[in-house]
Order: sequence, then structure tokens, then C-alpha cells
Amino acid sequence: MLVTAGPTREAIDPVRYISNRSSGKMGYALANAAHAMGAYVTLVSGPVGNVLRAAEGINIVNVESAGEMYEAVMRCRGGADIIIACAAVADYTPVLVSGLKLKKQEELTIELKKTKDILGALGREKSAYHVGFAAETHDLLHYAKGKLEAKNLDMIVANDVSRDDTGFDSSHNAVTIIKKNGGMREIEKDTKENIAQAILSEIASDLGE
Ligand code: PMT
Repeated sequence: MLVTAGPTREAIDPVRYISNRSSGKMGYALANAAHAMGAYVTLVSGPVGNVLRAAEGINIVNVESAGEMYEAVMRCRGGADIIIACAAVADYTPVLVSGLKLKKQEELTIELKKTKDILGALGREKSAYHVGFAAETHDLLHYAKGKLEAKNLDMIVANDVSRDDTGFDSSHNAVTIIKKNGGMREIEKDTKENIAQAILSEIASDLGE
């Protein structure tokens, strides 16, 4: 199984970057739960600090940027039956990265370009069961269903990130699992460890395990 977790950092100059509030907790909970169930897990992790621990035996690949995460996933995907993309990958990255620290000025405009869509690319040559997450502040199910289709996924985990007691950088989450076959399951607020178990058991039931 291949799991992605955490944020990415898009460099602006040697000391500054654009990132997001993902802590990596949800992705690490998935990787650890899958490992405990006997799966061979590769965890492609964005920068999450030193707080989170992946269980011994999990193959960790550390990356910083969306570009690095793309390359790592493409390199490690071979042999994975299940791919779970939980990482909050930056959608945009600076066009130019300054080699020197930018000096203060009255106004600063940073030109951004789109990053590569990792799940989108995987979905175009599919050989595994693909699970994506949709982090949304509004019209959650509508946007999640759009991503399920656009990225050719088998399951999407819709995550309302407008709440401050769940989602980004919380120990808890509340999600709706939507499957390609039309199945839907709402999971009330619970620890990310329990949510991870629920997601994995839904995958297992789809795969007949
Ligand atoms: O890390 P935590 O603090 O525990 O928080 C967990 C979480 C809120 C980050 C997690 O539950 C979550 O919702 N992750 C997905 C965040 C996200 O980037 O969602 P999105 O709707 O922007 O992206 C949709 C999907 O496409 C995601 O599976 C994402 O990994 C993937 N993607 C996005 C951009 C990109 N360039 N390539 C991708 O593959």
C-alpha cells in the first residue's frame, strides 16, 4: 500500500515557502493502521516535524515540495494494490524561486503556476485501488463527487475543513466516504486512528477481504 501524508512546501526563496495547515496525522494514522493489519506500507511524507511516528517496518520517503511528492509517488507506486492520497499537496508553486533572500519591499507579487496533479496522473494509467481525500469548506459532497470522477478514483473521503474541531491539524476528524459504486458512509467525529480503521475496512470490503 502507498500512502501520502502531510503538507508540501513550495519555496519562494531560501528561507520562505508557501504551505498549508496539514499536520500529517490523518495520513500517518492510515499508514500505521494498515501496517498493523499486515500490509507492506510505503509512506510518502511531506514535512511533518518530529512529533509523528510511523511504525517500525513502514518504508518512509520524505519529501518537501509537490514536485518531489509527484516524483516519489511515481517511483514507489509499482507493486502497490492500494494508493491512499491523504497529503495536502499544494495546487500552486512559485514560477521562480529566488536564490537569495528577497528583500523587503512595499508590495511583492509572486507568480504561481499549477503543480502536477498526482492522483490525476495515477488515474490515467490505473493499476490499483485509488483513494483520494477532498478537503472542502463548502459544497463538500458536490466537490468531492467531482474529484472522485475527475481523478478516476474508487473512493473519496470528503473532509469538511471549515470546522475547527476536526480536519487540519486536529487529532479528530469527521468524514463522508463516497465510493465509485455509489456507496456512501458518513462517519461522525472520532479520533483519526478510528477514522483510519473505518476507511481501511471500507476498502477491504470493496476488495472482498
Ligand atoms: O494532515 P492532517 O492535519 O491530519 O489533516 C488531514 C487532512 C485534512 C489534510 C486530510 O484529511 C485531507 O483532507 N487531505 C486532502 C487535502 C487536499 O489537498 O485535498 P484537495 O481536495 O485539495 O485534493 C484532492 C485530492 O487530490 C487529495 O487526495 C490530494 O492528495 C490530491 N492532490 C492534490 C493536488 C495535487 N497536485 N495532486 C494530488 O494528488
